[in-house]
Amino acid sequence: MKNRIYSLLFILCAISFSVSAQTVIRVSTNNTDLILRTGNDGRLYQSYLGERLLSEHDIAHLPLGREVYLTHGMEDYFEPAIEAHFEGGKSSVVLAYVSHTQSAVSDNVEETTVLLRDALRTISVELHYVAYKDEDVVRMHAEITNEGKKPLQLVRYASSMLHFKEKAYFLTEYSGDWGEEATMSTTPLTFGKKVLDTKLGTRASFFTTSQFILSLGEEATEHTGRVLFGTLAWTGNFRFTFEVDQEGGLRVISGINPYFSEYELKKGERFVTPDFIYTFSSEGMGTASRHLHRWARKYQLHQGDEGRYTLLNNWEATYFNFDEEKLEHLMSNAADLGLDLFLLDDGWFGNKYPRSSDNAGLGDWQATKDKLPGGVKHLTEAAKERGIRFGIWIEPEMVNPKSELYEKHPDWVIHQPDREEYYFRNQLVLDLCNPAVQDYVFSIVDGLMTECPEIAFFKWDCNSPITNIWSPYLKEKQTHLYVDYVRGLYKVLERVRAKYPDLRMMLCSGGSGRIDYKALSYFTEFWASDNTDPVARLFIQYGYSFFYPLKATCAHVTSWNRTASVKFRTDVAMMGKLGFDIRTDEMTDAEREYCREAVSNSKRLASVIWDGDMYRLVSPYEGNHAATQFCAEDKKHAVVFAFDIHPSHSERLHAVKLEGLDPQANYKVEEINLMPGQRSRLRGNGDTFSGDFLMKVGLNLFSERDLQSRVIELTEQ
Ligand code: DGJ
Repeated sequence: MKNRIYSLLFILCAISFSVSAQTVIRVSTNNTDLILRTGNDGRLYQSYLGERLLSEHDIAHLPLGREVYLTHGMEDYFEPAIEAHFEGGKSSVVLAYVSHTQSAVSDNVEETTVLLRDALRTISVELHYVAYKDEDVVRMHAEITNEGKKPLQLVRYASSMLHFKEKAYFLTEYSGDWGEEATMSTTPLTFGKKVLDTKLGTRASFFTTSQFILSLGEEATEHTGRVLFGTLAWTGNFRFTFEVDQEGGLRVISGINPYFSEYELKKGERFVTPDFIYTFSSEGMGTASRHLHRWARKYQLHQGDEGRYTLLNNWEATYFNFDEEKLEHLMSNAADLGLDLFLLDDGWFGNKYPRSSDNAGLGDWQATKDKLPGGVKHLTEAAKERGIRFGIWIEPEMVNPKSELYEKHPDWVIHQPDREEYYFRNQLVLDLCNPAVQDYVFSIVDGLMTECPEIAFFKWDCNSPITNIWSPYLKEKQTHLYVDYVRGLYKVLERVRAKYPDLRMMLCSGGSGRIDYKALSYFTEFWASDNTDPVARLFIQYGYSFFYPLKATCAHVTSWNRTASVKFRTDVAMMGKLGFDIRTDEMTDAEREYCREAVSNSKRLASVIWDGDMYRLVSPYEGNHAATQFCAEDKKHAVVFAFDIHPSHSERLHAVKLEGLDPQANYKVEEINLMPGQRSRLRGNGDTFSGDFLMKVGLNLFSERDLQSRVIELTEQ
């Protein structure tokens, strides 16, 4: 009897110990909290994600929530974060909390690591969270380790799993195609699953990008609503799964797409998943974007806090049809406009199979002697003579079957040996899983830089998805291909960056068929679209502006949509990283003079447009107009871009309220970027207004005429 009482007492003590010793892990930024807690079963749960809680004491009142990294084969009946198969066909996984650490990386950055382990199976998972306090951004990923002696098979391996419990959810997703990138649409999420994924491999974001906006409770706007922006930093196949369960709970699982990607982990091996990055705002989408932009410029984008080169590109000005004389002429045009750099595009290489169209030469990175007898070196010198820099296009991961490279190395190409080759833009993808191919791809950049150290810029293109999937190098491990390809690419880019940290590099993929935040840790900018019709660009640049800072978004003035004036086209491009891809000597004198002025304004206002905060004042999706404002961090300087697309004559025009200014300060309002001789029609042009007035009453930015644009500078007096 006495023994029984002792055992009962022991059990009671044990229970109360586990309850009182509940572990609380708080991943906080200035305005947000992600709160994890252990349950009595020893597992880890997500109790909260949202606005920061003021009182620590209240954490005890939170519901325990759902398991933080749900496993398969146990008591959860919906989509898991992890699925692993072990020796002898064993498969289910149960993860118990083991320990965690929290440490300050800097005043602004805190890192949290949580270790979970399965007591029965030989697997552990480490969850990593890096919180950026001022920017309200959290970067998270999982690391999965095989702790056993025998290999295990990872079938699913999410980077993150987040849980929500709200009365309604709205998902804003991005879809697209060539020339139609970053099209936004919003739909409610109801019971069941919505999946956003890609299986294209190299050109992963061709049809959808690895980013989403989730509105909680009700649809968020620029200024209102609780909203989570999520994006996966992975330059390959990704998958987001949004699943609403029978109780109205939503789980969001983000990671590499497990499609044809089962991964074997040998004894002691660790699989590091890519980062999922989120920012949460209870003040709508504008705040979320500004936070993400600030974070990207400070912590993620390569040379995020440095300047960018305005440039003239020759792609649309010449396509493949050029020689030294034509290029030098364009360089002179670039210098005449006051641009920083001339960018030589596709078509400069190949001798046995000259690259005079897109069906030959890719892979043979020597200048075509007939076309460019002085080689690349001569061109860099010609640019230097004109006082500008030189940049060059490469597509180093690809090969035309009609090339010397392909003849020499058919074993370096991804394709099923027993099937007919399938060509996308007449080309194939090189097998970057193979270290020899990685060396070769690195040597393309390294070789050009060694021969011509003056090269200041690379445009790195990637036009073909992975098709006919089979890696000669991986042999029986074919399901590693999609993952190992991306890892191979990162190895090359690491080497490029280690040796050439100052090179500016544009990420391109037949437009923006490849864009994500891991790639942007190596690249300074990305080509948003081959579609440079300024009206289409208003939408494309607007779409990307939710996630990416405008200094990273390359926007060029071209001949697309000649019904829009050169001024309209340039004003649209000046909202991003300004460039030209047009024969400027075919412009009128007035247009050229205008462009010179715009280039000079773009450089003068770089700290406002490229490094300031962005406010989307009027969305092009609303109909006839669009307006965006940029404001320097110190609020002393701002620039507003306003566009009339196709206004209707019966439309009533309203003043547009500006944002982010100092209400106490006075600002001189001046229209800039005017065509020579053009008089400003802006009411109040040249006058001084208080920030208070500009934000409460606003300015009349729009007109009732088609395709008009206006750029307005505000300077604190
Ligand atoms: C696709 C890119 O998007 C274009 O800007 C251009 O560089 C071509 N490739 C060249 O082939």
